[in-house]
Amino acid sequence: MKRLGVNIDHVATIRNARGEKHPSPFLAAKFAKKAGADSITIHLREDRRHIKDLDAKKICSIKGLLVNLEISTNLNMIKSAIKLRPDFVCIVPENRKEITTEGGLNLRKNKRRLKQILSRFKKEKIRTSLFINPIIDDIRISKELETNCIEIHTGHLANLIKSKKNYTKELKKITKCSILAKNLGIEVHAGHGLDYKTTRILRNIKEIEEYNIGHYIIGESIFSGLSKVIKNFNKIIKNRK
Ligand code: PXP
Repeated sequence: MKRLGVNIDHVATIRNARGEKHPSPFLAAKFAKKAGADSITIHLREDRRHIKDLDAKKICSIKGLLVNLEISTNLNMIKSAIKLRPDFVCIVPENRKEITTEGGLNLRKNKRRLKQILSRFKKEKIRTSLFINPIIDDIRISKELETNCIEIHTGHLANLIKSKKNYTKELKKITKCSILAKNLGIEVHAGHGLDYKTTRILRNIKEIEEYNIGHYIIGESIFSGLSKVIKNFNKIIKNRK
């Protein structure tokens, strides 16, 4: 059964724009679960640009909610994650100047460090995932690192599809990597840049079990919810509510 992980970082981005409490990522997490999300993803970045420590603490304490915490390989982030005790952890690369996570981890370069990090989380019984590019060699290294899962970066595929370019080669790479990972006993996830169209294309890869989606869900929710909120305000202004 395929699962949907909802990334709510952008709720925090909107909240932070005003430095006030609304919209609350904590309530968004509860709301998403009620609406059918299988898990909630939050990325606690080193610069805390969206999700803050207190958000992470409150969200990780929601009973019955599966939380996937994305963090970098920074030692302080590992310590924070262990204190937060999420159900799942996904290690991602971080770069100060990026707008969002721009690529997968460099597994070859960071092999030793990643191995240590993963075994630390395993001891804590926290499911591990590595955010990687769709490269066959990286699937083999992921196996050596003994990660429970990999999340394949779908950003490049999504960009090709959105700009109406030929995406066959990229899709083939993702498919091949997913099949190999599954055969090696690694659970396969996909994420980044997904919208309705790209997700419809990727759902055909049966090896992918989890889809982590953020930006499009929050952006599209504006169009799904805008008319209701405007109607509410009109009722208030016209003294009908
Ligand atoms: N998966 C990972 C590892 C990510 O870093 C992100 C972005 O925070 C996502 C999924 C979600 O990507 P998007 O917001 O483009 O849907």
